[in-house]
Amino acid sequence: MIEVMHLGKRYGETAAIDDVSFTVAKGEILAFLGPNGAGKTTTMRILTCFMPATSGTAKVSGFDIFESPMEVKRRIGYLPENPPVYPEMTVSEYLQFVAKIKGVPHKKVGAALASALEKCNLGDVARRLIGNLSRGFRQRVGLAQAMIHNPDVLILDEPTVGLDPKQIIEIRELIKGLGGEHTIVLSTHILPEATAVCQKVVIINRGRVVAVDSQERLSAQLRRSEKLSVRVRRGEAVDPQKILSIDGVQQILPQPAVDGEGVFIIESELGRDVREELAKRVVESGWGLLEMKPLAISLEEVFLQLTTEEKGVEEAAAAPVADGGVAV
Ligand SMILES: Nc1ncnc2c1ncn2[C@@H]1O[C@H](COP(=O)(O)OP(=O)(O)O)[C@@H](O)[C@H]1O
Ligand SMILES: [Mg+2]
Repeated sequence: MIEVMHLGKRYGETAAIDDVSFTVAKGEILAFLGPNGAGKTTTMRILTCFMPATSGTAKVSGFDIFESPMEVKRRIGYLPENPPVYPEMTVSEYLQFVAKIKGVPHKKVGAALASALEKCNLGDVARRLIGNLSRGFRQRVGLAQAMIHNPDVLILDEPTVGLDPKQIIEIRELIKGLGGEHTIVLSTHILPEATAVCQKVVIINRGRVVAVDSQERLSAQLRRSEKLSVRVRRGEAVDPQKILSIDGVQQILPQPAVDGEGVFIIESELGRDVREELAKRVVESGWGLLEMKPLAISLEEVFLQLTTEEKGVEEAAAAPVADGGVAV
């Protein structure tokens, strides 16, 4: 549905984005994840034909953004960082106004309005002035204006920024519900947002794509080793050598434990299943096996692996975020 091919944008000497490529399948929700200044807004403005690229191109439903911008715009709904809503208009007036601008035929404006109001749960506030609405509702109006012409594709630039935690959850649920029917690209600098809403993640940092994959595969791809957590009854009896001598085991890391129990993280070579042999050793040694479970690496860890060596990201990661997510 969307093909981004080697997009680049320079501002004088600086490259805002460089060689950005990714694809989005029909009905998919893709997270465009990266710290502030990574190039998310730049990419979205190019995709929505608001701004030309310096190099590369993109296609939406097979239409090239340079050769057929009108065809592309017809198929795209865009929610910019700062939604273009007019406080002195009522929700209905504003959405009808946008529908006309976007070329919805006169006879179909009523149906388009009803559908957008319904999809964005705005029925109850249709006659209210936008200026009197809460930020969460105003963001829904922003979403409604993006989809008033029933586009196949929705491009949403940081749709939950500035909302309170309850509103964030509502908007995320709303976006999730729109997937399937619409193909969605959503930018965010908040990791939990990408994991909560999207099937596919493109990580961008300093204008370059550093990873593209499904959430699960991205984690697996970056994993250097398998990790198992093992809990035993008699922690003090454990002889690390007996575990390290198992073929494939690389490391044993003791964890804090209570009541004499022992907890250990065992790292082994990727693709090497040491569970059977490990269980055998623990049982034969009489340490009292209580639990053994694999530890999955989270996208959060992956992202830190990808970008912590980049200057400035670490300080930003330490900053608190309203919804308890990690700011990157
Ligand atoms: N009009 C502009 N002139 C010069 N530099 C710009 C302009 N717009 C964006 N940039 C730079 O391009 C980079 C990417 O910005 P942007 O796409 O807004 O990132 P994001 O949306 O991920 O925060 C940043 O370094 C930013 O300073
Ligand atoms: Mg931005």
